[in-house]
Amino acid sequence: MSESLAFNLNFVHPLLMWVLFGLSGYAMVLGIKTKKTRTADADTRKQLIKGQFGKRHFQIGALLLALMVLGTFGGMAVTYLNNGKLFVGPHLLVGIGMTCLITLAVALIPLIQQGNLIARKAHVGLNMLMMTLFLWQAVSGMQIVNKIWENRPA
Ligand code: HEM
Ligand code: HEM
Repeated sequence: MSESLAFNLNFVHPLLMWVLFGLSGYAMVLGIKTKKTRTADADTRKQLIKGQFGKRHFQIGALLLALMVLGTFGGMAVTYLNNGKLFVGPHLLVGIGMTCLITLAVALIPLIQQGNLIARKAHVGLNMLMMTLFLWQAVSGMQIVNKIWENRPA
């Protein structure tokens, strides 16, 4: 692989992950509106239901899950291509942890659809934890970006 292509690849993962940061915020808003619709009184519900928040939350959520899995393995692939190894540090471990959390949360959907309250609460809790870790992951991620930039080929 040419050296400049390998270097530019370094920025695909950070850019994608910033997009996913925004996308997960949007998914959260849609999730909260889904709950509002579900728990509203009959009149308000009639209004809110037009927003199709549940359906949109599911669609954006599915996209988020897919890109998150690809983004995580992509980050590992690029790290391996550039260094011939992975760095078993906080960014790798928390990243893998986040992808596990969102996967577990999504695996609960069949139960949520059957009306299981614990599954519903766990879905929200797992994903909120995932988003909290995202804040931290963005900081450690930008530190890696800085390091790559400072060591850029002349
Ligand atoms: C950013 C991450 C996410 C957050 C913060 C989040 C949050 C929520 C919230 C607050 C609810 C409503 C719970 C209630 O009605 O009490 C919900 C429901 C749901 N979520 Fe998520 N979610 C996330 C990701 C996902 C993903 C990735 C998927 C699917 C691939 C998904 C699918 C669903 C489904 C199917 C429901 C049930 C909706 C319904 O009752 O119609 N969510 N989520
Ligand atoms: C939000 C901003 C983020 C930034 C700026 C960022 C930045 C980076 C950078 C620069 C690398 C080095 C690999 C490369 O050159 O492409 C990397 C690796 C990696 N990233 Fe991220 N990242 C972010 C978010 C995430 C998230 C959300 C996850 C997972 C959920 C993740 C998982 C990983 C993994 C698993 C690696 C491989 C680490 C290793 O083996 O050392 N990153 N990231």
